[in-house]
Amino acid sequence: MHITVVGTGYVGLVTGAALADFGLNVSCVDSDEQKIEALSSGRMPFYEIGLKELVNRNLANGRLTFSTDLEAAVRASLTVFIAVGTPDLPDGTPNLTQVDSVVAALAECMDDYKVVVTKSTVPVGTARRIQRLLTGKQRRPVEFVVVSNPEFLREGSAVEDFMRPNRVVIGAESDRAVAIVKDIYRPLYLNETPFVITSLETAELIKYACNAFLATKISFINEMANLCEKVGADVHHVARAMGLDKRIGPKFLHPGPGFGGSCFPKDLVALARTGRQLEAPQRLAEVVMEINRRQKERVFSRIKAELGGLERKRIGLLGLAFKPNTDDIREAPAIDICRRLLEAGARIQAYDPVAMPNSRKVLNDKNVVYCPDAYAAAAGVDALWIATEWNEFRNINLNRIKSVMQAPVLFDSRNVFDPEKVRALGFRYFGTGRPGPPH
Ligand SMILES: NC(=O)c1ccc[n+]([C@@H]2O[C@H](COP(=O)([O-])OP(=O)(O)OC[C@H]3O[C@@H](n4cnc5c(N)ncnc54)[C@H](O)[C@@H]3O)[C@@H](O)[C@H]2O)c1
Repeated sequence: MHITVVGTGYVGLVTGAALADFGLNVSCVDSDEQKIEALSSGRMPFYEIGLKELVNRNLANGRLTFSTDLEAAVRASLTVFIAVGTPDLPDGTPNLTQVDSVVAALAECMDDYKVVVTKSTVPVGTARRIQRLLTGKQRRPVEFVVVSNPEFLREGSAVEDFMRPNRVVIGAESDRAVAIVKDIYRPLYLNETPFVITSLETAELIKYACNAFLATKISFINEMANLCEKVGADVHHVARAMGLDKRIGPKFLHPGPGFGGSCFPKDLVALARTGRQLEAPQRLAEVVMEINRRQKERVFSRIKAELGGLERKRIGLLGLAFKPNTDDIREAPAIDICRRLLEAGARIQAYDPVAMPNSRKVLNDKNVVYCPDAYAAAAGVDALWIATEWNEFRNINLNRIKSVMQAPVLFDSRNVFDPEKVRALGFRYFGTGRPGPPH
């Protein structure tokens, strides 16, 4: 079977390459010529574990191709996945211009029965809207079906997540289309991955429900961490004991500086907005966003208070990406909080294993120096702040770090280190939701 995936971002590229690996012929289409040129010669536009090998393997066997020519790809395909971006507008509305421009182009070039699959996260009602748009704008009327197939992969483990998902959700109103999409995911189906076959609206809402729930878990444990600090409890023990309860589960109970990334913040805003519009308020989503905003504020305020102001203070920053194993800095707490620190007069020495090039594009400030490693970032600083829990930070030599710092103050937003051990080395240590005196 030949399929087209439109958009070669985190979702589209992983989808296209993985489906090629499943044995399908895949054309990945993007409007960004430079990206397509790079991909065609095996260069990745972003960092994702295992992706380069997956792409190059399928480029080499000829099942994966990259192009800017949507029309040619669509003509050759039975199924078209739309995986373009759906960022939010300043008022919180999802910006569907990328989706709409793909739909307009599809209406022009669909020449035969097509299954049009929305993989992008889109507000409830979008699949039905696409159906109407395609019907209204088709140049030559041909039969088509719109299917909603939201994606749940996580950046940092995207290939693994796509290959071994917890479930596949297919929203559709046509048995034929369901059979085609199931066939695309055949290796997973044979693997006994659960499939949820449902309506268009339900499939679209499932994605928002999942992200809102996961964000809620993070905000819950962050609030619990704040309380732990007041009462002298250890949030890690609280989270562990909670997680051992099978009704709760251990995932997404790690306290930190607040969630970020390209999905949770925008999807929560969109869900809350949909709720308001339809008079089914999503108060929990609204509160979770507020808690998250405050969590970031808390990190900033703590650093400021402990350093006695920020004017001309030098701060080493370890980790810029919104989470480890990715170079994505969209809505990263590190970037948000860093901006606040800079505004307050601080100077930043930053290091991230892969996210520095992206960071330079948005934090292009003379008061941010990008460093070759953690030790260079710590040199001469008044405090070191760990914002992203990259594994390599777990193994840094803290004695060496301490010896190059101006003052041994460590803000460990992600609880990478054992407080007692770090304090025993002579650091003033501030974790998130963990007991003990700071020194
Ligand atoms: N990133 C994630 O972890 C993740 C996970 C699940 C779902 N999603 C959802 O998947 C969607 C895509 O997210 P992403 O992070 O991959 O986006 P992205 O911004 O990384 O990539 C979008 C790609 O679409 C391309 N594009 C834009 N308009 C186009 C057009 N008209 N024709 C062809 N290509 C076009 C862009 O050039 C870009 O390469 C979003 O709706 C997102 O919410 C993302």
